[in-house]
Amino acid sequence: MKNILGCTGHKLRIPNISDSDGVYIFDAYGKRYMDLESGIWCTSLGHKNARINNVIKGQLDSIMHVGFCYTSEIVDTAAESILSVTGLKNGRCVFLSSGSEAVEILRQAAKHLVENPKTLVLHNAELGAYDSLTDREHGWYAFEWKNCKECTDSFICDMHSEALKRLPADITEFIFEPGSDAGFVGFPPKALIQKLVNLIRSNGGKIIANEVTTGIGRTGQWFGYQHYDIEPDMIALGKGIGNGYPVSVAVFSENVANDLDTFKYSQSHQNDPMGAAVADEVINIIKDDDLIGNAARKGQIFLSQLQSLECSNLKVRGRGLMFAIDFGNEKLAERVYNELMESGYIVCNRGSFLRIDPPLIITEAEFGKFVDNLSSIVTREGSVSAMIISRII
Ligand SMILES: Cc1ncc(COP(=O)(O)O)c(C=O)c1O
Repeated sequence: MKNILGCTGHKLRIPNISDSDGVYIFDAYGKRYMDLESGIWCTSLGHKNARINNVIKGQLDSIMHVGFCYTSEIVDTAAESILSVTGLKNGRCVFLSSGSEAVEILRQAAKHLVENPKTLVLHNAELGAYDSLTDREHGWYAFEWKNCKECTDSFICDMHSEALKRLPADITEFIFEPGSDAGFVGFPPKALIQKLVNLIRSNGGKIIANEVTTGIGRTGQWFGYQHYDIEPDMIALGKGIGNGYPVSVAVFSENVANDLDTFKYSQSHQNDPMGAAVADEVINIIKDDDLIGNAARKGQIFLSQLQSLECSNLKVRGRGLMFAIDFGNEKLAERVYNELMESGYIVCNRGSFLRIDPPLIITEAEFGKFVDNLSSIVTREGSVSAMIISRII
C-alpha cells in the first residue's frame, strides 16, 4: 500500500483481500478469514450478498446518481421503508454517504432549531470524524457513567441523582449512542437514560439517537434505543444500512421536519438513488429473513457460549450480536487476537478486550467453530499468563 496514506490509526493486518463470501473474506493466497467484525459493523448481511449485489447491478443499469434538482422514485420508497421501521411515521429522511455525515447533518439541524445548542452526550460518545463532532470544548456536556457498566439497571443510584441535579437546565439536545460506548460495547442503564431523556424533554430539548453502529438489527432490535423505551426526535443510521455500500441516513420526526423548512444542507451524494436502493433492500432482507428475531435469539446463545470460556478475570458483555470480551490484561488480549488472526478469525482488539460483531446471517455452526478455536487459544494463552504472573510473584 505504498500509495495510500495510512491515517486510520489502525495497523494494516491483511494487505491483499481479493474475494469474499458471506461471513468469510479471502486473501490473494486463498487464506480464508471469518469476518467477526463485519468490516467495522457494516456488512451485517454478509459479504457478496446476492440480493444486494442484484439491486446494485439493476440500479447501475438505470440510474446511480442524480443532482439536487431531480430525483428518482426509489429514494422516496427507501425513505418510507426506513420511516416504517423507526416508527417515525410522517417523518423525513436524508440519504448521505457515511455515519459521520448522518450525525453531522442532525447536529446542524439542531443548530438551525436553536441558536447555540447545548449538547449532552455520554462521556465517551463516538459521533464520527468531523470537527464539529470531535471538538467538544464549547456547548457540550459529557455525562460520566463509567462506573455504571455493571449496573443492573432498576434504580438511579445516589451518585447519579446528584449528577443529574447538577446538569444545566439549558441543554437543547441529547445525542445518545445506545450500546456502542465508543466501540467498547457498553450498555448504559435504562433507568439512567430514561431519566436523562425526561430531563432534556422537560427543558424542551431534542433526543438524537446515534444508531450508526447499533441500528439495523445489531442489538436484536431494529434500533438500540428500543431497549430503553424512549422515542428519539432524530436518528442517525450508517454502516449496516448499506451492508458495505457507503450510504447513511438522517431521520427526522414529523415535528422536527416541520420546523426545518428553511434549513439548508447539501452534499453531492445526497439522496443518491443507488444508496437508497441498497438501504431499501437491506431492510427488505432483514424483514424477509427475520434477522432481527435471529439476532436476539442467536445473541443469547452466543453470549452464554462466550461467558463459559475458561479464563480468570474474564468479563463478557453483549446485546444481540454485539459482544465484548474483557481479559483485564492488554498483553493477553493482544496475544489471543494475534492467534485468532493467524487461525483465520477477524475480531477487533482494543486494549484489554476483543470486540465481536458477527454478521446477522452467521449460523450457529459458524459461530460454534469460532468459539471452539477461541476457547483453545484462551485456555493456552490464559495458562501462559498465569505462569508468567506466578513467576513474577
Ligand atoms: C457510534 C458511531 N457514530 C458515528 C460513526 C461514524 O461513522 P462513519 O465512520 O461511517 O463516518 C462511528 C464510526 O465508527 C460510530 O461508531
